[in-house]
Amino acid sequence: MRLLVVGSGGREHALAWTFARSPAVEAVFVAPGNPGTAAEDKVTNVDVDVGDFDALAHLARNRAVDLTVVGPEAPLVDGIRDHFDACGLACFGPSKAAARLEGSKSFAKKFMARHGIPTARCEVFTDFVAAERYIRDRGAPIVVKADGLAAGKGVVVARDVDEAVESARGMLAGGDFGEAGRRVVVEDFLPGEEASFTCILDGETALPFASSQDHKPRDDGDKGPNTGGMGAYSPAPVVTPAVHDRIMAEIVEPLVRGAVADGMPYQGFLYAGLMVSPEGAPKVVEFNCRFGDPEAQPVLIRLRSDLAALCLRAVNGEGLRDVALEWDARPALGVVLTAGGYPLDYDKGDAIRGLDADLPDAKVFHAGTATGEGGIVTAGGRVLCVVGVGADLAAAQRLAYRRASGIHWRRIAYRRDIGYRALQRASG
Ligand code: AMP
Ligand code: GLY
Repeated sequence: MRLLVVGSGGREHALAWTFARSPAVEAVFVAPGNPGTAAEDKVTNVDVDVGDFDALAHLARNRAVDLTVVGPEAPLVDGIRDHFDACGLACFGPSKAAARLEGSKSFAKKFMARHGIPTARCEVFTDFVAAERYIRDRGAPIVVKADGLAAGKGVVVARDVDEAVESARGMLAGGDFGEAGRRVVVEDFLPGEEASFTCILDGETALPFASSQDHKPRDDGDKGPNTGGMGAYSPAPVVTPAVHDRIMAEIVEPLVRGAVADGMPYQGFLYAGLMVSPEGAPKVVEFNCRFGDPEAQPVLIRLRSDLAALCLRAVNGEGLRDVALEWDARPALGVVLTAGGYPLDYDKGDAIRGLDADLPDAKVFHAGTATGEGGIVTAGGRVLCVVGVGADLAAAQRLAYRRASGIHWRRIAYRRDIGYRALQRASG
């Protein structure tokens, strides 16, 4: 089988690497990819932008690609699946209509209300004065979110009312997050512990991947500004077998049926960001129409089933019913190494040292890297994700940090406590 992966981040490196591990896969093209994908066996980067659907379709045809798998949300929300369908090319990912579950938070909220999926109570505003009145009325803590795509950064969990009002003012009256912030969702704060729950869907059947948990705040102890994700591990102990069953019954199954009822059957990866209450009740924080990044890195490293075959079955009509996924029982933990300053201003072009070392059961996935004159350099905020697999989570964590400690560039920055919640849980 020949595959095309669309995207260039850590998630796409993990997808391409996972596909390439299958003996049934002959070649993987990545558009545009990164220096990490370029270095993998059987994998070739092709310099095509993720937004250029015509060029991507041309590439898929030219290289006799059997299946295209889309990594990031932007092309999905913009309708890459519909474009490939119209060209008669197999593409794994939700349609433009279904991808609105990520592309518009207000659309997702209405979908959940319609189909009885548990989530935080909310109101949507385009007018600042009305938003301020609602926030003052409702009290804190309260959460203010830009409606559109903002790369995981358009959400403010406000401890007090004034912070919430100022965030809403910035978005509705000050132009923060541009177009994405012209509409604002204000929702109740959900107490509990977060988990990431990803499934692969064929339109009728949802097959869950191993659970995971990421750390969105930039600093140790879950402090500082929100980011796209600073590290993740799998499985997430908060997703006990009982919680897993509730997630499937109360969230995933109603979503599958609801999407069919609404005329937009969901095919692709679906990522539910969840809050699990202290009583073990899951509620949806957000839906994403793709795999998580960095969740994909520790989850996919544990997958023993053939992901390419699964994606193909999902789109070619064979379907995923009666399929069971196989996993490496050992936990995995990934630490994101960032360029100092991320998620605000950061430098690019710094030479990265220490990439070549080889540690068994550790893997370095590239994200924001580029090939410079003297070798590989930083080229984004989240630069690398270093994953360790171990007999238990503590061992996976030690291995990831041991590998990370051998990597250097000017102003490297990363959290030192990825996995702390799960480890606290384990030690009682
Ligand atoms: P989102 O982009 O919607 O996933 O939000 C980013 C982060 O903000 C989430 O991962 C949570 O940590 C936090 N968050 C969002 N909504 C809520 C909520 N209603 N209650 C508590 N925390 C939230
Ligand atoms: N790690 C969060 C996300 O992929 O949205």
